[in-house]
Amino acid sequence: MTLNVVILAAGQGSRMRSDLPKVLHPVGGCPMVAHVIAAANALEPAKIVIVYGHGGDMVKQAITGDNLIWAEQAEQKGTGHAVMMALPYLDADSTTLILYGDVPLIKSSTLAELVGSANKHPALLTATLADATGYGRVVRDVNGDFERVVEQKDAAPEELAIAEVNTGVLAVPTGLLMRYLPQVRNSNAQGEYYLPDILPMAREDGLVVNTVSVSDALETEGVNTKVQLAKLERAYQARVIEDLMAEGLACADPSRIDVRGTVTIGRDCFVDVNVVFEGDVVLGDRVVVEPNSIIRSSTIGSGTRICAMSHLEDAVIGDNATIGPFARLRPGTQLANKTKIGNFVETKKAVLGEGSKVNHLSYIGDAQLGANVNVGAGTITCNYDGANKFVTTMGDNVFIGSNSTLVAPVEIETDGFVGAGSVVTKTVNEGELAIGRAKQRNISGWKRPVKGDK
Ligand code: UD1
Ligand code: CA
Repeated sequence: MTLNVVILAAGQGSRMRSDLPKVLHPVGGCPMVAHVIAAANALEPAKIVIVYGHGGDMVKQAITGDNLIWAEQAEQKGTGHAVMMALPYLDADSTTLILYGDVPLIKSSTLAELVGSANKHPALLTATLADATGYGRVVRDVNGDFERVVEQKDAAPEELAIAEVNTGVLAVPTGLLMRYLPQVRNSNAQGEYYLPDILPMAREDGLVVNTVSVSDALETEGVNTKVQLAKLERAYQARVIEDLMAEGLACADPSRIDVRGTVTIGRDCFVDVNVVFEGDVVLGDRVVVEPNSIIRSSTIGSGTRICAMSHLEDAVIGDNATIGPFARLRPGTQLANKTKIGNFVETKKAVLGEGSKVNHLSYIGDAQLGANVNVGAGTITCNYDGANKFVTTMGDNVFIGSNSTLVAPVEIETDGFVGAGSVVTKTVNEGELAIGRAKQRNISGWKRPVKGDK
C-alpha cells in the first residue's frame, strides 16, 4: 500500500532559546528533521508532508527533497490540528505515518514494523518509561487492549501511575484519519486538538488499535532544550561509532570520536582519541588517524597516516601518504600516493604528484607539483597580489631550497633547482639552478654597536 508521511514541525521550541527553528538544530551535524526525513524515506513513501509554523521559511530553505510537501500551521492548536493541516495533501487510499520533527533518533526498522501493523487498523508506537511524567499515558481495558491516550494534564491519579506512554508516532489508514480527525474536539485541560483522540473513535467503530512497543526509548525521545539536544547527540554518536566498529573500525575510545556526517571505512583503520569527522569522509584500508585531528569532506587512501593535530578540508589523498602532525590541508588539496605533508604546512588548491614532499613550515597555494618534488622548509608560494590569484607550477624532481619565495605566476621546470633563500619571479628552465638572493658580503673590522650609541 502507498505510504504517506506527516512530520509535525510547527513547534516554536522556545525552550531552546535560539533564533534557529528547533527542528534545524543539528544532531551529528545534520538538522534533526533531516534525520526524521531520512528514516521516513527508507520506507519509500509517496510523499512527506511537513507541517511547519514558526521559522518556516528557514526550514524550507534548509530542507529540500522531491517528495516533500509543505503545509502551514499558523497557530498551534495541538497535534490533531497540526495533522488537519496536512490532510488535504494526503492520498485517501494510503497509510499515513505521523512523525515528529524534533524526535531525531527514530529508526526506520521501528517505523517499518509500525506501518506493517497499520493495515486497516491504526497502530500506535508506545514506550514503557521509568518516569512517564509529561507524556500521554496509554490506558488499556480489562483485556489489556488499547483503549485511549490520556494526557498528563487530563489524567486521574491512577492514570498517572501508568508507565506505558504514547510516543506520538502513529500509523493510520488515511481514510480513517480523514473520517475521524474532523470530529476531534478541544474540550480538555489544554484546549488543544489531540491527535490520539481519533483512536477511541476507531475503537467505537469496532477497530482494534494495535500497539508496537519501542525497545530503546531514546528512539522516541524529543528535544525541547539544549540539554536534551546534547544527550541525543551523545546517543547518536554512540550509535554511529558502534556501527563503524561493527564494520571493523578500531578506535582508542569510542566516546571520543565524533561523526558529523558520514564516514566510509576500509579494512583495519584505526582512529585515535578526539577526532572529528565532518561531511562525507572516505577512508581506505589501514588508514590511521592520530589524536586531535579534524577531517572534513575528504578522501584518504589506503595505508595513509594522518598524524596528530591535523586539519583537513575537501582534500583527496592517495595511498601511503603521511600528513602532519600539525598540517592544514585546505580545499582543493590533491595529494598522490606516497606524498608527505609535514608540520606547520598549509596547502590550498595544491596538486602534488607521487612521492612529493613538503615537510616543514610552508604555504603551498594554487600550485601544481609533479612527482618527487622536494619543497624545503619555509617555502612560500606567493599566490596573491592583493587582487588576483596566480599559479605556481613545478615539474618532476624539482628541488626548492629552504626559505624560498616563489612569486606566482611562475614555473620551475622538470629537474629545476632553487637555491635556499631565493625569491623566484621568472621561469626556471629544465635542469637549471636558480639563485635569486642578494650576494653575501663579508665586512671585516666590523664594530658592533654598544649601549649608549646614537
Ligand atoms: C504529545 C502527545 C502525548 C505524547 C507526547 C510524546 C498529543 C495531544 N499528545 O504531547 O500523548 O506522549 O507528544 O512526546 O498528541 N506540534 C505541532 N503543532 C501543534 C502541536 C504540536 O506541530 O499544534 C508538534 C510539535 O512541534 C512537536 C510534536 O508536535 O514536534 C509534539 O508536540 P508537543 O507539544 O511536544 O507534544 P505534547 O503535548 O508534549
Ligand atoms: Ca503540547
